[in-house]
Amino acid sequence: MSQPALLGGTPAVTAALPPWPLVDAEALAEITRVITEETLCPVGAEGTQGDFERAFAALHGRKFALAVNGGTAALMLALHGAGVQPGDEVICSPFTWGASVSCVLQNLAIPIFADIDRNTFTLDPASIEAKITPRTKAIVVVHIFGFPADMTRIMEVAKRHNLAVIEDCAQAHGGKHAGRLVGSWGTVGAFSLQASKNLTGGEGGILVCDDRVVYERAMSMGTHPQRLYAELELPEFREKIDSLAFNYRMHSMSAAMANVQLKYLEQWTLARGRNARDLYDQVRDLPFIEIPAELPETDRHAYYNIPFVYRPGIIPLSRTEFVEALKAEGVNAGIYVRVPLYLRPRFQNHDYFGRGYPWAIADEPVVYHKGDCPVAEAMAHVEFQVGGNYYVDSPELMAQVAAAMRKVGEQAPALRAYFDAPKASTSP
Ligand SMILES: Cc1ncc(COP(=O)(O)O)c(C=O)c1O
Repeated sequence: MSQPALLGGTPAVTAALPPWPLVDAEALAEITRVITEETLCPVGAEGTQGDFERAFAALHGRKFALAVNGGTAALMLALHGAGVQPGDEVICSPFTWGASVSCVLQNLAIPIFADIDRNTFTLDPASIEAKITPRTKAIVVVHIFGFPADMTRIMEVAKRHNLAVIEDCAQAHGGKHAGRLVGSWGTVGAFSLQASKNLTGGEGGILVCDDRVVYERAMSMGTHPQRLYAELELPEFREKIDSLAFNYRMHSMSAAMANVQLKYLEQWTLARGRNARDLYDQVRDLPFIEIPAELPETDRHAYYNIPFVYRPGIIPLSRTEFVEALKAEGVNAGIYVRVPLYLRPRFQNHDYFGRGYPWAIADEPVVYHKGDCPVAEAMAHVEFQVGGNYYVDSPELMAQVAAAMRKVGEQAPALRAYFDAPKASTSP
């Protein structure tokens, strides 16, 4: 048995991660062309940014796309576009990146948390329905880790209660539910194009939708008047054109890079799936980890990362120690959510804009309790993932990651002794 890297052994992973974000000759040539021949500051929808918007909308079978400077901006505008107003309740996931919920706060609306599904970490449609009140206006669904949420059932719930649905697709470009791409289901699909994402412009974001009112309202809140004059058709928005909006403009370099990448998204998504399944197959027998159950054939996980569940008590290591040992072996392992969002201080203390806003304008007092979302609370203790962008077939790397997991499992007693031993103080 080889020595764990934490105890001075050779790390199991020696193969390099595929380079990401990919700034190759094709991307560089296109970025150079766009910033020299087009513009550094695309205030309108012409040129490459417009091409990217049209291609992205077409890919998702949508009428409209609006490129912006980040996923956070796309979400904030998505909610505004969908008609969320101050004081409205919006149902959110507690198991996500903060921007999936800060977009609600930034619209002065009130986040209400529903629980997640144990297998996919995405919102549970039954829990959503249980949290709906007469004040509920929208649902923010997050396709977390690349798992597609159950959009069929979520859209049924939304239809029954006349709610807008915002899909946060920041981690799920290329993912599918029931044969349809994520981002093509809800009132609005919002994507991040930040550097770690499956499709990236280094920074950036984009939203897609079908309803002109939603599109124009979103555009009016985040876009330069020059574009508004060129594109707005509806009098209610045209008569208000001014320069009071947020500046959420995408940089032309982001548009150039993301537009190049879009050609490869399908091929990269398929490779991500092959790598994840390859890794899962190699570690299926390890009793201390659980692999997510297979999705229906018509669904497609986008594998922004490769998620696992740690089964505590089988080997003598906590999840945190297991992940630390994996990291020492060269695995890009991590824990995504340790505390569900509503149990964090800002939510417990209503501390966002100050003076208790936006909760201060809620019709009913809002208190977030431990136990509100029991599945999310339980999963926050056991989830871990293997990160990295595996967009090319990487059999050697997957074999090495699997070997690292096996090695840490086999060497758990020695690692236990290592974690229990008093550590030399690093302070003088
Ligand atoms: C689920 C989710 N939503 C939203 C965002 C925000 O995207 P951005 O960083 O582009 O603002 C992220 C970014 O990590 C994310 O993972």
